[in-house]
Amino acid sequence: MNQRDMHLTDATADAAWMNPGELFRDGRIHSDAYTSQAIFDLEMARIFHRTWLYIGHESEVGQQGDYRTRMMGRQPVIMVRGSDNVVRVLMNRCRHRGAVVCEHSRGNTSHFRCWFHGWVYETTGRLAHVETPEAYGDREFSYEDHSLTPAARVDNYRGLVFASLSPAGPSLLEHLGPATVMIDVAIDASPDGKITVDQGVHRTTFRGNWKMVGMDGYHPNILHASVWQILAKRANKSFRDTYSDSDKAVRTRAFLNGHVMLDNMQQRLSGLDKRLGDLKKMPGGEDYIAAMRSAYEPDRAEALIASAGDPHLGLFPNVQLIGNHIRVIQPIEPGLTQVDFYPTRLVGVSDEINEQRLRQHEFFYGPAGTVSPDDAEIFERAQNGMKASYTPWIDLRRGMGLEERDPKGSISGGITYELTQRGQLEAWKALMAQA
Ligand code: FES
Ligand SMILES: [Fe+2]
Repeated sequence: MNQRDMHLTDATADAAWMNPGELFRDGRIHSDAYTSQAIFDLEMARIFHRTWLYIGHESEVGQQGDYRTRMMGRQPVIMVRGSDNVVRVLMNRCRHRGAVVCEHSRGNTSHFRCWFHGWVYETTGRLAHVETPEAYGDREFSYEDHSLTPAARVDNYRGLVFASLSPAGPSLLEHLGPATVMIDVAIDASPDGKITVDQGVHRTTFRGNWKMVGMDGYHPNILHASVWQILAKRANKSFRDTYSDSDKAVRTRAFLNGHVMLDNMQQRLSGLDKRLGDLKKMPGGEDYIAAMRSAYEPDRAEALIASAGDPHLGLFPNVQLIGNHIRVIQPIEPGLTQVDFYPTRLVGVSDEINEQRLRQHEFFYGPAGTVSPDDAEIFERAQNGMKASYTPWIDLRRGMGLEERDPKGSISGGITYELTQRGQLEAWKALMAQA
């Protein structure tokens, strides 16, 4: 360890408790941010219990009474479509003595009945029934005051339901900012402008910190080389083993508020002819192309067809839109993270096209897939390596100072630049600094 590292380490150890955001500075992050229980506790309080979190997709609760149980940081919630057709996010906690009122992960119900003493709640959250209410005597007992507590704010962007436990702060649209344009890419791959999430979930855990599930354009050709070799062999091509940072067709990009992406839209556009050819060979492919061309302006239709609905976008802090799925990141402990993969279907396309999307998803990210196991394994190895804390700084300075500013509100750079990690950590730092 050189003098500078030693100095930073000592200074940071002190500063961290005054201002934990200081663990990230000058393009480097202290590994305490990945391993410390105290930092994790602060992340729950200052990030996950405060900012907008993705909860689920409205199609998961398409019918009145449909529900899904989810977590907001450490807090269990129910996403439910009420008998009034409103989708709510309710705290999964009985207003009597605090028991979880809904134990199932999914289902349809007319009411939630607490197992402990039988209080019954409507799907709107309203308390409907209390066993032997006369025992409250003359005291006024208000059913209204004992409804299931809703999350402070719930909002929806094109079917993606978000909630925040903080009554104040930026609106969902302010939070998402220009990243909404990329959410649109995932959804407008449907000629009807709609996706559904009804293919189940592939739930995984890895022994590493939640922040590792980032957007990294530096690793794929190294870590996933065997996958690219298989794909190249199938296509009778040779494997191109390096990306070039001067290649303008593949870029890293960071929006405001920690939302980042690996932007390969230009590369995909150059493959449009092949994509059209592949689609035309599929049942429903010609219809899909025609429907897209009639639904969108010509340039946009081409870009959307070429993109195949994959913005490769991470929305800070807990959701990514990658390939044909929605990926939800659930921190459990500093060194333990759950990652849920929800495959999506496009509305208004043939079953064959959706089936092919599902098969592609399984190949890359499914339980016996290729790419996801590599990622989970390397995250665990990185977490293990951090136990060697004598040199605790993690270096994320690739491309620092070389970024290009784009007038539409993002910065971009070469595909191996770590501006995506820095972008996420700038948002992390800003939230962690707010007591
Ligand atoms: S804790 Fe729910 S009814 Fe008592
Ligand atoms: Fe990867």
